[in-house]
Amino acid sequence: MKRFLKVDDIGDLKQALKDAFEVKKNPYAFQELGKNKTIILVFFNSSLRTRLSTQKAAMNMGMNVMVLDINNGAWKLETEQGVIMDGDKPEHIKEAVPVIGQYCDLIGVRSFATFENKEDDYSEKIINQFIQYSGVPVISLESATRHPLQSFADLVTIEEHKTVDRPKVVLTWAPHPRALPQAVANSFTEWMKEADVEFVVTHPKGYELSDEFTEGVTVEYDQRKAFEGADFVYAKNWSSFSDYGKVLSEDKDWTVDEEKMALTNNGKFMHCLPVRRNMIVTDGVIESENSLVIQEAANRVVSAQTVIKRMLESLK
Ligand code: CP
Repeated sequence: MKRFLKVDDIGDLKQALKDAFEVKKNPYAFQELGKNKTIILVFFNSSLRTRLSTQKAAMNMGMNVMVLDINNGAWKLETEQGVIMDGDKPEHIKEAVPVIGQYCDLIGVRSFATFENKEDDYSEKIINQFIQYSGVPVISLESATRHPLQSFADLVTIEEHKTVDRPKVVLTWAPHPRALPQAVANSFTEWMKEADVEFVVTHPKGYELSDEFTEGVTVEYDQRKAFEGADFVYAKNWSSFSDYGKVLSEDKDWTVDEEKMALTNNGKFMHCLPVRRNMIVTDGVIESENSLVIQEAANRVVSAQTVIKRMLESLK
């Protein structure tokens, strides 16, 4: 495996789950693979879970880990081609990335959508330059359009907690005061389409995700109807794709609460975190015994380690 940006990169999901449960059962069994190997994690944006879980995963594999925060202590990077660099960015990504590649065997990159330009975001301009110039395998730690390590961890969590063979999984938009990328919602949709689940997306009008992700997916604009019989409710805010990066609504009627969860099949609540309480979800739901948010976060180590293991195997 030379890159991990989207669901296609992991191949067969049943095999991926099998590998993930093997790693979860024996996290320290593969340390020879990572001995004397180094991973560098590059962050253009903040993180708690991705930063810690990916470090933990790499350490479980016996690797050395370095972390670089681009906006805190590193040179600001110019990412445009052919510009006169007379502004506040002293280093170009075309030098910085191959230099980083000299110091490691794998690179992880977090680079969110900037909302400055939809085409740049949806062409994955930043992470694709890491693939092009680094010379080493690249793992997405959340890119402009996707968050595959999160979606893989979510799939592992659903597999662990499902009570029927083919559960109903609902992705619901929920309100948030600031514009957030579509990456988690896009990615979750992409993975659920490939998984053995009945999948429904619900959101207010104007929050349609790109057709690239939702083609063939059931979209239900009535949130309460979508929740009926759900085994899992996955809440997330995202900004508008069509009116790119705009917050069109903060309608609290879309907050996931006890009354709406009562419509489900004793449904489990999921969110990738961090979460705004009493905007996205009520205290009562997130603190209920049906909340899986901590288990999802725990499985971030499992998804990261499974991907790192495959990449190390492909270096041999
Ligand atoms: N879920 C997730 O990616 O969390 P962080 O942004 O804290 O890494």
